[in-house]
Amino acid sequence: MATLGVNIDHVATIRQARRTVEPDPVWAAALAELGGADAITVHLREDRRHIQDRDLEVLKRTVQVKLNLEGAIAPKMVAIACQVKPDQVTLVPERREEITTEGGLDVITHLTATTEAVRRLHDAGIAVSLFIDPSPRQIDVAVALGVAAVELHTGAYANATTAAGQRETRAELAHAGAHARAAGLTLNAGHGLTYRNVVPVARIDGMHELNIGHSIVARAVLVGFSQAVREMKALLAPLPSG
Ligand code: PXP
Repeated sequence: MATLGVNIDHVATIRQARRTVEPDPVWAAALAELGGADAITVHLREDRRHIQDRDLEVLKRTVQVKLNLEGAIAPKMVAIACQVKPDQVTLVPERREEITTEGGLDVITHLTATTEAVRRLHDAGIAVSLFIDPSPRQIDVAVALGVAAVELHTGAYANATTAAGQRETRAELAHAGAHARAAGLTLNAGHGLTYRNVVPVARIDGMHELNIGHSIVARAVLVGFSQAVREMKALLAPLPSG
């Protein structure tokens, strides 16, 4: 069975919409653990649009399951990772103007910077996963870099709008997954996975960890909405007289 890494970035997105203290992603991490999360995943973006440095520091002290930090290969981000020492760092591409991570890290184009980032993280004793497209060439470079794991980008699969497109992109993931497993890599995947599309990916042979964020946070907002309204309504009730 695949394990579940819960990405809590978008709990912080709601907080940052008001620059206030709620909802606290640290609380969300604790609740995710109570719900059975096998890992907590956060992406400390260079523009700090959601997760803040304080969140990462507190999570490092409080998370009891695996803490997976997603970050860019930029030396500043690698330095933070080396200082905080999460259980795993997943190296991702990052562009400031993107809404979310679009496409995997191209480890062929960015070989020198990726090699340096991996070296520094390994020297700090941190396991490294590379978030890459499901391409055998990218996987071969990951193997040469000596990382423990790859996380295959499931965006193309998630964006497929036809059954044939979904079958084709799922086959690409399975093929790349088999290639990674044969080379001894741990196989993770994520991005755009939802309650509707996750099962075929979870069933790919050797799938170890799925990182899922937006869909879980979106559902949490709605499944908790009536109760939140009831609690506010109760405060507005007239005081009992006498
Ligand atoms: N895995 C990686 C490497 C990501 O960058 C993201 C998005 O931050 C996710 C998984 C989670 O994607 P989603 O929020 O679409 O579930």
